[in-house]
Amino acid sequence: MSILVTGGAGFIGSNFVLDWLAQSEEPVINLDKLTYAGNLENLASLQGDARHVFVQGDIGDSALVAQLLAQHQPRAVLNFAAESHVDRSIHGPEDFIQTNVVGTLRLLQSVRSYWQGLDEARRAAFRFLHVSTDEVYGSLAPADPAFTETHKLEPNSPYSASKAASDHLVRAWLHTYGLPVLTTNCSNNYGPYHFPEKLIPLIIVNALAGKPLPIYGDGLQVRDWLYVKDHCSAIRRVLEAGRVGEIYNVGGWNEKPNIDIVHTVCSLLDELRPKADGTGYAGQITYVTDRPGHDRRYAIDASKIERELGWKPAETFDTGIRKTVQWYLANPDWVAHVQSGAYREWVQTQYAGTDKP
Ligand code: NAD
Ligand code: TYD
Repeated sequence: MSILVTGGAGFIGSNFVLDWLAQSEEPVINLDKLTYAGNLENLASLQGDARHVFVQGDIGDSALVAQLLAQHQPRAVLNFAAESHVDRSIHGPEDFIQTNVVGTLRLLQSVRSYWQGLDEARRAAFRFLHVSTDEVYGSLAPADPAFTETHKLEPNSPYSASKAASDHLVRAWLHTYGLPVLTTNCSNNYGPYHFPEKLIPLIIVNALAGKPLPIYGDGLQVRDWLYVKDHCSAIRRVLEAGRVGEIYNVGGWNEKPNIDIVHTVCSLLDELRPKADGTGYAGQITYVTDRPGHDRRYAIDASKIERELGWKPAETFDTGIRKTVQWYLANPDWVAHVQSGAYREWVQTQYAGTDKP
């Protein structure tokens, strides 16, 4: 038995692979294109571990995916691979359509073909788990109830529109072809290995470098934050016990305005790595032009996954954000390699000779 994970060198995917192999002997086939966001250094601790088979490639490469499925015969495919940064999607939406929509379509087709060839018992047990986002639901007004799984999809950015399209494709592959799918829609994640283009790692890294801490608009946009390892445990639980065809919203019941997040990070840094000149990191906060079409508020109602599957986050925001800041302070080499681009060479230097068709 094995599982195939796509996008397993990215932020959430790499945390998932590390957590999976810390708790299970079941091998992981990890298919990742290694875009700028894919970083094999995240998986350095698995070097030499036969349970982790890394393959550099595109989810849209049907021949490669078919070959991997035939060779490894996984019991499940978990699709993390995506272009994931809203700001990049505003500047260049094409890559988002290519990977998130066309890539997901091709992956579904490859998986369907493989699944149809399985014997009856394996066909019934097979799962395709699609990892999606709360951003597909659009933006909430301050007093609106949090997003439930039946909220209509009203995506506002090229990123969220491409993810909503992929969610629709996944749904259609169940209804039309019977492929046993599961979908998770999760709120904003934070934690180790988060690429410093996203808010929390960007603030940590810029603060330590003495750079401005950019706040878009008035800084009062609200996001619902979940520690990444809690997202990983939710995905494991949905894979294990989720009902086929269902959507599960995943969140930490932790809504906060961006400016509060930035002040929390600054206070933790003031405590853990005080500035030599005695001033606080919050002095580096700089308000900048708002993001076009910036969604005002996201909030996830996570009661279904708790009620049906007994899942709850293990971390509060206070414990998770402290661990995150400590992780960045303890891993300056990871940060330096990401910033210099040196992480891209990791695949050549550390993974020479691995299974890369
Ligand atoms: P990420 O950008 O850090 O990682 C994405 C990974 O996918 C990278 O390793 C990249 O190399 C790989 N990839 C990109 N295009 C590919 C392709 N065509 N074929 C194979 N691999 C490809 O993203 P993330 O933050 O880890 O997000 C993972 C998934 O979770 C995404 O689907 C995203 O929509 C979803 N999600 C993210 C968040 C969040 O807060 N980051 C929240 C909810 C859901
Ligand atoms: P981000 O981490 O990009 O996630 P998403 O847009 O998917 O929610 O941004 C989180 C919030 O922080 C979002 O409201 C935009 C805001 N933001 C800033 O104010 N400054 C920044 O430099 C960045 C990257 C984001």
